[in-house]
Amino acid sequence: MANKSKKRELKLGAIIHGVGGGTSGWRHPNIPSDASVNIGFYKQQAQKAEAGKFDLVFIADGLYITEKSIPHFLNRFEPITILSALATVTEHIGLVGTLSTSYSEPFTVSRQFSSIDHISGGRAGWNVVTSPLEGSALNFGGKPHPEHSKRYQIAEEYLHVAKGLWDSWEDDAFIRDKESGVFFDPEKLHRLNHKGEFFAVQGPLNIARSKQGQPVIFQAGSSESGRNLAAKTADAVFTGHETLEEAQAFYRDVKERVAKEGRNPDHTLIFPGIGPIIGSTQEEAEAKYQEIVSLVTIENALDYLGRFFEHHDFSQYELDAPFPELGDLGSNSFRSGTDRIKQRAKELNLTLREVALQAATPRTAFIGTPERIADLVQEWFEEEAADGFIIGSGLPGSLDDFVDLVVPILQERGVFRTEYEADTLRGNLGLPIPENRYAAARKQTGAAVN
Ligand SMILES: Cc1cc2nc3c(=O)[nH]c(=O)nc-3n(C[C@H](O)[C@H](O)[C@H](O)COP(=O)(O)O)c2cc1C
Repeated sequence: MANKSKKRELKLGAIIHGVGGGTSGWRHPNIPSDASVNIGFYKQQAQKAEAGKFDLVFIADGLYITEKSIPHFLNRFEPITILSALATVTEHIGLVGTLSTSYSEPFTVSRQFSSIDHISGGRAGWNVVTSPLEGSALNFGGKPHPEHSKRYQIAEEYLHVAKGLWDSWEDDAFIRDKESGVFFDPEKLHRLNHKGEFFAVQGPLNIARSKQGQPVIFQAGSSESGRNLAAKTADAVFTGHETLEEAQAFYRDVKERVAKEGRNPDHTLIFPGIGPIIGSTQEEAEAKYQEIVSLVTIENALDYLGRFFEHHDFSQYELDAPFPELGDLGSNSFRSGTDRIKQRAKELNLTLREVALQAATPRTAFIGTPERIADLVQEWFEEEAADGFIIGSGLPGSLDDFVDLVVPILQERGVFRTEYEADTLRGNLGLPIPENRYAAARKQTGAAVN
């Protein structure tokens, strides 16, 4: 559990998600309809989050679309590319992007994140995902989509390789002495020589460690396998919960798993995603929510729901009958999410229409005045349901509202920073810099290592 004697500090991230995570937000008058591929929009959002002293911006990603995918998924930036651009127009904020361990090579990806870490001066983070959608396989050579638990085995070995490659060079390896002509110290260059079940990677990586040592590892799957991967490898976890109690149970569970792995639970931060809708009165916030609801058709909502279940066609069922029996459908893709949808539908006896609308336009507690949102954020943080939050755009302008109206309240209450503490992402998150493994071994033995 978190150490109660040490003052915890709230962390905040912003997801920049173009025209939004829903089916119809692009139609809202206040959102540029090309926001998902609009560099000006991404730049404005990142700079706004930085003005609000946020720890990080986050770019989600996916590798498979169909005609039924939501507008943002149909036409959007690749995360590494957009983060590189954002690195040059921001100074303090962390830059976290999603990249799949099921459809990439660790040597390439380690290089890419390391490069962003250098370009940004130590602000890079990687949201490690295993790719839920089976269709992704069709875009990568056509081998079958690895099964859920196998995807997590691959991810674990992948992270072992990536972290190993990031230590290829000790921090003082590059001497760069123009006078003597010595560019580097060969004793401080290390080959990983990894040969595992899924990867064979010799190394070394052709880029040094950054100011924060290694990029920050985020993990975003909430199933058993996902939680175990987080416990072994992650500096932070993205998740999503509807109630305080549910979030607290997840928080406790992950922190316990981290401790069981012999790691410090304070160094794996839990970030539920929320999509606050803010109004100057409760009624105004409610009206804003209803405005979004009014843009969503039931057909949109069924398509949105279908994506989580391998793009299942829900239009074949009676809308007002109980949510259909789907067997195992969904458990090889968004397992934790689809398990929860099925369980809730059963417990609350929901119809298909209710489930689809709740998925497409989730009604959460985070709808209200700035004070109400600040109260909830503070409560979830203090009651150990969260170490921080990822603020999503429940509505166009949500991030701006949160920064302008909620952040000052949290600052006033002493819950959130008024200035950045550090110039790296690890520094602001309060995470230690991982020592280079070879330098650490050298210190212990006093001898050369290789
Ligand atoms: C908050 C959150 C954010 C996620 N972001 C992404 C993402 O950007 N791209 C992606 O492919 N999967 C994303 N996922 C999906 C997970 O990485 C994972 O593949 C999926 O949830 C299935 O694994 P699970 O059953 O362990 O949850 C996200 C999941 C959560 C809970």
